[in-house]
Amino acid sequence: MVQYTDELKEEIRSANDIVDVISQYVSLKRSGRNFFGLCPFHKEKSPSFSVSADRQYFHCFGCHKGGDVFTFVSEIEKVSFKEALELLAERAKIQLPVSENPEFNKKQYLKDRMYKVNSEATIFYHERLYKPLAKIAQDYVKQRKLDNNTLKAFKIGYSGEYNELYKHLKSKSFKDEEILATGLVNKNDRGEYIDRFRKRLMFPILDVSGRVIAFGGRKLDNNEKTAKYINSNENLVYSKKKNLFALNLAKQSDSKNIILVEGYMDAISLYQRGFNNVVASLGTALTEEQGRLLRRYCEQVILSYDSDGAGQEAIMRGLTILEDQGCDARVLQMDGAKDPDEYVIKYGSGRFKMLVDNAISLVEFKIKMLKNKYNLENSNDKIRFLKEITKVLSDVDNKIEKEIYIDKISKQYNISKEAIYAEVNKATYTSKKDEKVLIKPKIKKEEVVEINPAIIKRENMIIYLLINYFRESYEKIVTNIFLEDFKLESNKLLFETILNSQAEESDKILQIISNIEDSEIQSHVSEILVTDYEINSVDKCIEDLVNTYNKERLANRKMEIVHILDNKSSELSKDEISKLEQELSDIIVELAKKK
Ligand code: GTP
Ligand code: MN
Repeated sequence: MVQYTDELKEEIRSANDIVDVISQYVSLKRSGRNFFGLCPFHKEKSPSFSVSADRQYFHCFGCHKGGDVFTFVSEIEKVSFKEALELLAERAKIQLPVSENPEFNKKQYLKDRMYKVNSEATIFYHERLYKPLAKIAQDYVKQRKLDNNTLKAFKIGYSGEYNELYKHLKSKSFKDEEILATGLVNKNDRGEYIDRFRKRLMFPILDVSGRVIAFGGRKLDNNEKTAKYINSNENLVYSKKKNLFALNLAKQSDSKNIILVEGYMDAISLYQRGFNNVVASLGTALTEEQGRLLRRYCEQVILSYDSDGAGQEAIMRGLTILEDQGCDARVLQMDGAKDPDEYVIKYGSGRFKMLVDNAISLVEFKIKMLKNKYNLENSNDKIRFLKEITKVLSDVDNKIEKEIYIDKISKQYNISKEAIYAEVNKATYTSKKDEKVLIKPKIKKEEVVEINPAIIKRENMIIYLLINYFRESYEKIVTNIFLEDFKLESNKLLFETILNSQAEESDKILQIISNIEDSEIQSHVSEILVTDYEINSVDKCIEDLVNTYNKERLANRKMEIVHILDNKSSELSKDEISKLEQELSDIIVELAKKK
């Protein structure tokens, strides 16, 4: 395997600011020296994910993941460390030496060609839509009420017959390998090249940065035997779970929310009617990646699924995914039409806007679902309903929000507010109790349990000082604090690494440390680096630490002497005993002075 040089690694590291990179996945807010956000690696409602801009490290105090920008990318993209490095090189437009990694460069080149094939195909399909032979497609878009601006904005097209696209691409001198890689053309058993999309209305799918990565093709006839839509298969440039149709347009909208629909046609139709903040999932249930992607562009997402198709389970799942990413997720309720496209054509954009404004939250949606389960005329059912809704309400952390819900429910279902409050308080208490049992701090090594947290903190601080204030602290620390003093294995290893490094400045130390290939160490380092130890004076801080260690050594020696005198004095000479007694009294005086 190819190894990149440390210089190259450092060049890539410094060209990719960790705050910028992480911001592509997590919405970060500054607080003091660090940035905070919701951890992308575990589910949480309040931020325990921290990024240090100074030290270029991240750490989550909830799940203990941490490391530098390479660790972050490799964890979040689920790729190897080396691949993460390559992705970051690409992001920073740093050329990797060809000789060092021919496969990677070949792959990059192929990807680049695939984008070009896709873009050429988009133009080909789009221009073809306006030709006389495309009458059937022109009639169809008229029937679906798509106007010319919309056709242009989405570059909607009409695909040809047999191998028209293939021939066209060949005339533009694309290689077979490049064309096949996009999936736009397939090779059959007889060795013939045949277009995948034929005589279909074509919807190019763009990534966030506006590159064409795939296509959806809708059939124009009513042939029952063919699929309504054919979509591109996943390939080197297209992953359907990581993209959303029309997000490249929606991200430009200054609306405070994004409307999430199921179909291409819903997104297009709403866009034409003034909603420039619509995206469509790509024929799959909403994924975590898509949720995260949405969270990057807005706080509120409005789920507007088909009234028949999706079902409550899908909505609930979608809402939950969005909430887990820290979105304010809402669901739009629609009657009288099967999907947003039909609705907006039938009732107009004003009415659809009202639906958007009245979209309900996950809590309200859950309560509505529960209401359908019970007959509220029946008093037994009403009690059960009350018990169930309080479970839902006890998950609402925000007090004011909770009060608003209780108020609404009380009015809507004719239940006294006091009754709801009483139940909610009970439920909150029990669920908090459960939580305590469930969220024991995650401890990775047996040894961690036994070490006093104050000692860990103290050791961490020494490492922190050595990394951040190397010049000021090194001499004073190494002459007073020793490897044997360290209790936590990770700290011992870090201290040893620093001692052996022969480095002369903080940046170099950090570089050496970040090269330790051990995720547990990296997580520990990141915790140290993002913690604010509130160090005002490095000297004072070291003085305190050294004092603590000295005191502890004296106290230990005192215990040792007492133990010897108590148990072993018979084995010692008079002289030895009096020496020990002298030492003991010295220690006692010394300790008293230090108090
Ligand atoms: P119209 O029926 O033209 O209004 O299309 P639509 O955009 O409303 O699509 P629909 O709600 O029927 O389906 C939602 C999405 O699921 C589509 O946009 C496609 O991405 C996908 N889809 C629908 N039908 C098929 C199919 O037959 N095959 C595949 N692979 N995907 C489909
Ligand atoms: Mn539809």
